[in-house]
This record gives sequence, structure tokens and C-alpha cells, in this order.
Amino acid sequence: MSEVDILGNDLAGLVANAATLDALEAVRVEALGKKGRLTALMKEMGALPPDQRKERAQALNVIKDRVTEALAARKTELERAALEARLATERVDVTLPVRPRPDGRIHPVSQVIDEITEIFAAMGFTVAEGPDIEDDFHNFTALNMPDDHPARQMHDTFYLPEKPDGSRLLLRTHTSPVQIRTMQSAAPPHRIVVPGRTYRCDSDMTHTPMFHQIEGLVIDRHGKAHMGHLKGVLAEFCKAFFEVENVTMRFRPSYFPFTEPSAEVDIRCSRKGGEIKIGEGDDWLEILGCGMVNEAVLRHCGLDPTEWQGFAWGMGIDRIAMLKYGAPDLRAFFDADLRWLRHYGFMPLDMPTLGQGLSR
Ligand code: DAH
Repeated sequence: MSEVDILGNDLAGLVANAATLDALEAVRVEALGKKGRLTALMKEMGALPPDQRKERAQALNVIKDRVTEALAARKTELERAALEARLATERVDVTLPVRPRPDGRIHPVSQVIDEITEIFAAMGFTVAEGPDIEDDFHNFTALNMPDDHPARQMHDTFYLPEKPDGSRLLLRTHTSPVQIRTMQSAAPPHRIVVPGRTYRCDSDMTHTPMFHQIEGLVIDRHGKAHMGHLKGVLAEFCKAFFEVENVTMRFRPSYFPFTEPSAEVDIRCSRKGGEIKIGEGDDWLEILGCGMVNEAVLRHCGLDPTEWQGFAWGMGIDRIAMLKYGAPDLRAFFDADLRWLRHYGFMPLDMPTLGQGLSR
């Protein structure tokens, strides 16, 4: 056997005996590395006379191919064995229970907005929306509060920087501007509720600079949207929202520039033992402002007050949420504290998980 054949057999044996991928790599270096045994023979070829060189080169190339193929085949074999060994030890137990998923919660304000809009939707109202950043016209002027109107001072308004023409946009101080936008954008009749964020410069236990209101507006022909309808709609709402059959309401005369006459609505409650109960007792709880839409407001929106009439109301959502779900400090509503949310938040109803099965 020639020297080359001996080397070939020797290397083939080493490859076949390599028991791990590391050992196999060592064999590769020993054979084909820079200082490998085959490489050395190839280098020595240069010194041979040309007629022997060709023959030697052919023989060496055959061995080189054989070793290279053997290395690749052995590598595949060892890799498969390693994978099988891993699969045998790392078995996945599909019968283990799923890891608990951190469920989200519905914020009490979102919950109350859903509850309220659902009640009004059942009475035929649709939901309308408007921008949080308003202009003077929609927030004040069109609502019968001209520049020098004293009622503007009731609102501690956040203004945006002045524009070149001297005007300033503002963060809406109430949801009432959406009344104007609704009447401007479509022909009556209207029957809308407007839940949304509102802003005033105020902060204590029961006030936050950002808060939520829900506005209501009904506009129809004369005789079809009068004060009696207003009372009926609000009574229906209170019953459904506070979940009591009899709610005694009181309409207290009040003043808003955009309604005439105006009223504030109180409902019967008891406050015994620091707990508010709706629908019983000898105390009153103020829940909203309302009234018949002022003729001046109708005219600002291009409606003829001899033909159309309507009523409106505005209610703070956060206070009602505090009341219904017993959360004492309004500021905590908007601190985004997860512990608070887990305590006061609501579970979404439509979230079946494998753990719970499909029946909720
Ligand atoms: N916009 C009033 C406020 O924020 C609330 C209000 C009162 C709205 C009477 C109305 C209404 O639509 O008729 O104080």
C-alpha cells in the first residue's frame, strides 16, 4: 500500500471513530488544517519531478475528497444524534396548566361611559364626538357666551399659544361644543349623547384638570322635545343607571347661558354611615345640569326657533363613577396605578381563555 493510501485509511478511521462534534473538528484540522497531514503531503509535492507530481496529485485529491465527504457525513450523523439526545431529555409536558396571563382591566370611567351610552342607545340616542382642542366659537360664543360674558369666568380655561391673528385655541371646558358641531353638520332632528374628556385648571379630592362629561342633546319640531320629555328621559336614565325602581328627582332652577330655562337635577339619597344610597333617604345628590336649548344657540346654528326646540344636559362622569363604585379620591382615577386598576377595574366580559374554557 502506498503512503497516500495508508494515510487515507488512517484518516477515514479517525473520522469514523470521532465520538463528538469537537473530536470530529479536531480530526478535520489534523487532516486538512494548515499544518494537517494531507496539507503537508500536498506541499511536499512541489519538490517531486514533474512526471511523479501529476500522479501524486491525483492520488492526494482522491483522498482529500474521500476525507471531506466522510467528515460531512459523520457531522450530520453526530448532529442528529445530539438532537435526538436533546429531544429525549427536554420533553414538553403538554398536560401542564397554562401560565396565568396578566389580564387587563376596564377602567371604571370607561365602564361607566359604556353603561351610560348603552342606556341612551336603548332610548334611540346615537353617540357623537368632537375634538378635545376647540376654538372659542364652539366652546363659548355659539353657546351664548360672548367675549365679555361673565359665565366665561366660571371656566378656568387652558389656552394654547396665541396664533398670528391673535386668536387662541383651547382645551374644551365642557362637552357642550359638540351640540354646536352636531347642529351645524346635519339637519334636525337630533338625538345624541357625547361622552368625552374635558379640561379645567382645577385639582383637589373631587377635581382633576382632565375629567369626563357626557352631554345629551335632543332637537325636534315644537312639541316633540319639551321639558316633559327631558324629565322623562332623565328619569328613565336614573332608574337604569342606579338600578333602582323609584328615583325621586328634583329640578332646581339654575342658570346656564346655553339653556333657558335651566335647571340642576338632584336625586334622593341617604348618606347614613358615610355611605351614599340612591333612591331612598332624606338627602339630595346633585347629578347634572340641563335645560331647554336657548334660542340664541339655535340661531347660531342656523335653526329657526319658531320651528325647532330642544333640550340638553351635561353630567360629570367621574363623580358618578366614584359614587357608583365607591372610589374615594378622584385623582387616583388618573394616576395609572396598576394596583388601583386591579382593585377598581372591571374584567372584560368577552375574553374566554383556554384555562377557563369557552363557557364563561
Ligand atoms: N356644560 C355645562 C358645564 O360644563 C353642563 C351643562 C349644563 C350642559 C346644562 C348642558 C346643559 O347641556 O344644558 O358646566
